[in-house]
Amino acid sequence: MSTPANALGAAPAPARPRRSLWPARLDLAQSLSGLVLGLFMWGHMFFVSSILLGYDAMWTITKMFEGYFFFGTAYPILVSFVVAFVFVLFIAHAALAVRKFPISYRQYRAYRDHMGMMRHEDTTLWWWQVATGFAMFFLASAHLYQMLMNPGLIGPFESAERVWRGWWPLYLVLLFCVELHGGIGLYRLAVKWNWFAGSDDNATRRNLKKLKWALSVFFIVLGLATLAAYMKTGYQNRHVPGVRYTPAWLTNPPQAAPPAWWPSWLKGDKR
Ligand code: HEM
Repeated sequence: MSTPANALGAAPAPARPRRSLWPARLDLAQSLSGLVLGLFMWGHMFFVSSILLGYDAMWTITKMFEGYFFFGTAYPILVSFVVAFVFVLFIAHAALAVRKFPISYRQYRAYRDHMGMMRHEDTTLWWWQVATGFAMFFLASAHLYQMLMNPGLIGPFESAERVWRGWWPLYLVLLFCVELHGGIGLYRLAVKWNWFAGSDDNATRRNLKKLKWALSVFFIVLGLATLAAYMKTGYQNRHVPGVRYTPAWLTNPPQAAPPAWWPSWLKGDKR
């Protein structure tokens, strides 16, 4: 076999190792799982904050997720299925993200020095994303396990009692962590994948950053108002531990007529 290299007696060039596609695939999986979790959290916050619309609104949302308006009976296990899916996605996202964490003091030092020198907002935002992500390893896992194992204890009074009797400090810290982490994450995804590319990249990035801060502030304010509503209800019910909420039209005897939207085929609380 005569090749030019051989012709000159030179050793054949060593075959260049093929670049693995796995890092890029893992990055894509991290982006996708982050996107789904970020959008889930927006929905989650609207559902949890339904307490601000009244006890009946929060009760109705809770029963909707338990299949009550489909089966005529509540199946809290359905909520556990959703929690299990979110928990697996959350763990996968965290495992993918750990690849990017500074894992030695030297890496930590290098990043901090770089951050201090650059004073570049996106560099600092990434640091906050790592710090809030680390905190959620523990805080969100506790919350998810609680929801997984006690899906039937969600409701206006049931949630309020849990928040009042001890979960509010965790929720307070978790609220800031998840809204900052999610907001920064969605912003970085939009920049990384060029979703809202316009004629002027800098202007697009400035607008995305404004939107990111507006959304984070909106969800933190909504979350704080929601937490305050649960605390107020929990305080009002502090002398009746374990009290469950039943809408006035489902009490026995009913203390009010069912609302206009109440499906006629649903008679009484079959829980
Ligand atoms: C399917 C999964 C989930 C379910 C069913 C769920 C359910 C709930 C419920 C019912 C509450 C009201 C308080 C209570 O009952 O204790 C709540 C509050 C909260 N959850 Fe979740 N959650 C889920 C996942 C998550 C995740 C993944 C995070 C963050 C990483 C999170 C963060 C929070 C925060 C911060 C609060 C307090 C909200 C506030 O009042 O400001 N949740 N959740």
